[in-house]
Amino acid sequence: SHQWRGVIREYADRLDVSDATPIVTLGEGGTPLIEAPALSRRTGAKVYVKFEGMNPTGSFKDRGMTMAISKAVEHGAKAVICASTGNTSASAAAYATHAGITAAVLVPEGKIALGKLSQAIAHDAQLLQVQGNFDDCLDLARELAAQYPVHLVNSVNNDRIEGQKTAAFEVAEVLGDAPDFHFVPVGNAGNYTAYHRGYREDLERGATTKLPRMFGFQAAGSAPIVDGHVVRHPETIASAIRIGNPASWQLAIAAREDSDGYFGAISDEKILEAHRILSAEVGIFVEPASAISVAGLLERAEAGAVPAGATVVLTVTGHGLKDPQWALKGPGGEEAKPTVVPVDAAAVAGTLGLT
Ligand code: F0G
Repeated sequence: SHQWRGVIREYADRLDVSDATPIVTLGEGGTPLIEAPALSRRTGAKVYVKFEGMNPTGSFKDRGMTMAISKAVEHGAKAVICASTGNTSASAAAYATHAGITAAVLVPEGKIALGKLSQAIAHDAQLLQVQGNFDDCLDLARELAAQYPVHLVNSVNNDRIEGQKTAAFEVAEVLGDAPDFHFVPVGNAGNYTAYHRGYREDLERGATTKLPRMFGFQAAGSAPIVDGHVVRHPETIASAIRIGNPASWQLAIAAREDSDGYFGAISDEKILEAHRILSAEVGIFVEPASAISVAGLLERAEAGAVPAGATVVLTVTGHGLKDPQWALKGPGGEEAKPTVVPVDAAAVAGTLGLT
């Protein structure tokens, strides 16, 4: 068959699966690595975008969820639980329902994008809006999984990180080697950790010649790793990464040290500016949290930290259709208003400046 078979089947030799593992897949992974000449021109680097919004539920979470749900079912789980800013819940809901088990998802009340909320409902999850933030939701999920018969599928579950590391394998296969730099958004820092692990494994088995420098970015109002302390009341318009106490904090610090990496903070204004650049100059539509990879690259290039000609990969983590409202706002916050025209070719031609 020529169809991509999902990350577990494609990378079975590099994941902890056996004949006893029931493979729960929606065909995740195999996402495009897209050249971004507009970003190369702006930075002097050779820039590629790994578009993870092309996964079945529209985010990179599916790579980890296929592993987490498959292993949960292998171990006899009838129900899974997660805390989420929206994408993990959408993914858990889809994979659990596909496997015929129940997903309970805990999300911060009023703080997740409408597209993601719709997904959890559509996929028949038990959706609970918690009167607290993401960090409160994760504390609750951990407590419930420790005390009740329900399996935790947040990225504190190592199966999630294992599945997500496959994105690094795909990048190295397409480029023929690892890139010099890899930029990712950071919330819980699970994905930062996963890419580093994938690249490290590639280097160790001799598939690549170098370890990319891992550059991770948090929103300025939710930047515990950059600030060096837990943020009690994280704030940012990038709701996916509105996290004050990252679950994979220590693993991420180790990955930064091993890769000569970096963590930076980016203002919401710069995130939205990068969102517009990626949409209008490259042609890739993402949710705001994903645009922080682009903003991080522009900021680091400006600071002289990215040498000319360096190969740079930016992961954009989630699809723009999950949270489309940001496209309708201009740089000054003004609403974009589509022009209305009559059914009249001459009038339309005039409006389009064709006459
Ligand atoms: N980008 C998007 C679109 C996300 O949804 C997330 C995390 C991240 C980046 C950060 O990844 O946590 O591995 O550092 N979303 C989680 C969720 C928290 O619940 O969907 P991370």
